[in-house]
Amino acid sequence: MWRAGDLEAADGTKTEQVEALVLRRIERGELSIGSRLPSERVLAERLGLSRVTVVRALDHLRADGVLETKRGSGTHVRPTDRLLDPIAPASTVSAGDQPLLDLRFATTAAPHDVVEAAAQMVADSLPQAMGGDGPPSGGSLELRTALAARLTSEGVPTEPDQLTLTVGAAAGLNAALAGLDLGPGVAITETPTYPAAFDLLRKHRLDVAGWPAGVWDTDQLAHLCRRHRPKVIYLQADNHNPTGLSLPADRRTTVVEIARRYGAALISDETMRPLWLASGEQADPLSRYPRTVSVGSLSKTVWGGLRVGWVRTGKQLRRRINTAAQLSVASPSALDDLLAQAIVPKLDKVIGRRRARLRANLNALETGLKTLDGVTWATPTGGMTLWLELTDVRARRVLDAAREHGLLLGSGDLFTPDGTDRRHIRIPFTAPPATLRLVVARLGDALNQST
Ligand SMILES: Cc1ncc(COP(=O)(O)O)c(C=O)c1O
Repeated sequence: MWRAGDLEAADGTKTEQVEALVLRRIERGELSIGSRLPSERVLAERLGLSRVTVVRALDHLRADGVLETKRGSGTHVRPTDRLLDPIAPASTVSAGDQPLLDLRFATTAAPHDVVEAAAQMVADSLPQAMGGDGPPSGGSLELRTALAARLTSEGVPTEPDQLTLTVGAAAGLNAALAGLDLGPGVAITETPTYPAAFDLLRKHRLDVAGWPAGVWDTDQLAHLCRRHRPKVIYLQADNHNPTGLSLPADRRTTVVEIARRYGAALISDETMRPLWLASGEQADPLSRYPRTVSVGSLSKTVWGGLRVGWVRTGKQLRRRINTAAQLSVASPSALDDLLAQAIVPKLDKVIGRRRARLRANLNALETGLKTLDGVTWATPTGGMTLWLELTDVRARRVLDAAREHGLLLGSGDLFTPDGTDRRHIRIPFTAPPATLRLVVARLGDALNQST
């Protein structure tokens, strides 16, 4: 299991290579909590390294809390956050002799808490629920009550009747658009933005006009509104996907006023909001303003496999959404509903751990990117992705070269309404530091090859 050929030169010094190898094994599930490593002497022999190098690497991993060594019983893998919350293990899949790094999607694996919550659900709530025929369309009152209490505690006073539960935030946006029934007309979104939003808006007969994210110039928004008379403005004011940036606090009231002045519905996508990573205070969400429709979900905070999202509206719009026929297929299943009920009380812990992981990942990514020429970016306030600008070459060339080096990344044009971006690459930082160091090394090679 431990061979010199498994060390990767791109990971850095020999010591770093050993550290990265252990972390990779953990991330791929080859080493789990409690797994025992060979002795330092044996490990050094198998890896063809000096014992000093191996001892140093293991010392670092012990200091990071990844490993522990007990006299008499050897070195074991500790129950670290890395194992309790294994973000994106699927981002590395083997392709031949070098791992292919597929970072086209920003996804997270389920934290360990999902297992506990599922066991609790099976013991406590499932047997009783089995006597009924599952939650009503729009989600159970129990889960809506729990989520409403959570939103209220986060500063957005919410009653259970204001929430419609859906199979994720995208389905929430779809439900909101169905209920509002605004088309044909124009929708304003940030550009770049979450690509599925373009598809959904278009499906509801809305043409999309882009307002530059990160710049968030309110005069320009007013100008776009005068020109297009939009029916709806869809925004991600917090930890925006793909830039990871947030609409400055002092512009939020102006944005809401502009939407009102031009009679546009305001839909705030708050899916990424809980993943705030910056040190300063987070601005109030747009959903605090009356008449804002907001969507959110447990996909980014807990697990994309748990299909529970919501749309928060006034009660009248909720009635309209509930009568829209497609909702019967867009509500979470009975099992997801019950599982989410068991998870919500654990959310602070789950999100706290995930933020800590994402912060460490982002830090590793930025440290690596600083060593590259021809790239620039704004540090995300949160979320899961960094929007890298290439100053000298076109994104397509770099992406093609990266593919040759076993690295797949999302191209900027996917995130703009007209597909015109040529300068950006989206880099998710859901993968752990060791993988991200490899990502930066391959990206560096791709950049060198393209310039
Ligand atoms: C901004 C934004 N909104 C919504 C979604 C969709 O979330 P869900 O999986 O809950 O439908 C995503 C997923 O990437 C997203 O980035």
